[in-house]
Amino acid sequence: MALPSPPLGGLTFSLVGPGRVGSSLACWLVESGASLVEVAGRSEPTARALATRLGGQTAALASLGSENEDLLLIAVSDSALAGVAATLARHPQAKVALHTSGHQSAAVLHPLGPQGTATGSLHPLMAYPDILPAASAAAGSVFAVDGEPEAQQMARRLVTAWSGEAVEIPAESRPLYHLAASLAAGGVVTLLATACNIASSAGLPAAVGRGYLELALGALDQTRGLADPAAAITGPVARGDLETLEIQLRRLREADPERAALVATIARETLRHRQQRGELDSTHEALENFLDAFPRADKGP
Ligand SMILES: NC(=O)c1ccc[n+]([C@@H]2O[C@H](COP(=O)([O-])OP(=O)(O)OC[C@H]3O[C@@H](n4cnc5c(N)ncnc54)[C@H](OP(=O)(O)O)[C@@H]3O)[C@@H](O)[C@H]2O)c1
Repeated sequence: MALPSPPLGGLTFSLVGPGRVGSSLACWLVESGASLVEVAGRSEPTARALATRLGGQTAALASLGSENEDLLLIAVSDSALAGVAATLARHPQAKVALHTSGHQSAAVLHPLGPQGTATGSLHPLMAYPDILPAASAAAGSVFAVDGEPEAQQMARRLVTAWSGEAVEIPAESRPLYHLAASLAAGGVVTLLATACNIASSAGLPAAVGRGYLELALGALDQTRGLADPAAAITGPVARGDLETLEIQLRRLREADPERAALVATIARETLRHRQQRGELDSTHEALENFLDAFPRADKGP
């Protein structure tokens, strides 16, 4: 029996920016049947290593011409995108060009438009601490796409091949989309680091910090499949337990007033979620009054 053909079989592409995201996506493309033609980056050895691994050639950015190829993938840092697009526009490029920034919209690639390249973006809502070489890493992940119809069609084709989910995020929504993504990733990790700092300042052993990580992972897991993650918020504020909150927050204010203000702000946010969910009860006002004694982030020091 003949093997099924790979989902991206016959697709040709070049890559600019063989960093964590660019190298990962190039590996997934090749695993899905696509062929890498050229790789360009700032560091030639890095580009060469990827080209050797995946079977392409290296090129200088200024001379890269992907004309007649299906896709030009651009995975450079956000601040370099406009300059890289201007350089690439000196030569005819592929039918479609996609960048991987979450903050920038497809518009940053417009210099490539006049010569017939359809421009768009493909932002994986994933963390890349390093290169993720297997396409299975993308399964179930959401990818933000935008741009011209042909570019979005290409982006969606790749996402489908990797068993992800494509969601269109238009240009005007990009700043808040990316801010919220940073809050969901870096913001959550920052809070975990703060929890560990509070424990170590109180002289607690390092094992407690490891315990907080497991606790956080378990709490996040509880939100899986919920339409509103706020339904899984736990702790004294969610329970309306003012007595416990008072003891804990006063103790923190003695030791670290700035962090006490941060925790109070998060507690107010928890109350706001309870309110949005229609979970107001007799404890709400008392909790709000207690939290009013702490500085508000929007009122400055
Ligand atoms: N990291 C994440 O978790 C993540 C997740 C989703 C999306 N993204 C987005 O994906 C994009 C790439 O991020 P990354 O984490 O992969 O960054 P990265 O690991 O720093 O890789 C960036 C790559 O672009 C190259 N580059 C930078 N400026 C260049 C220029 N002017 N000309 C040619 N090549 C240049 C770098 O070369 P050198 O190494 O030689 O400098 C490197 O190969 C960014 O837009 C980022 O916001 C990142």
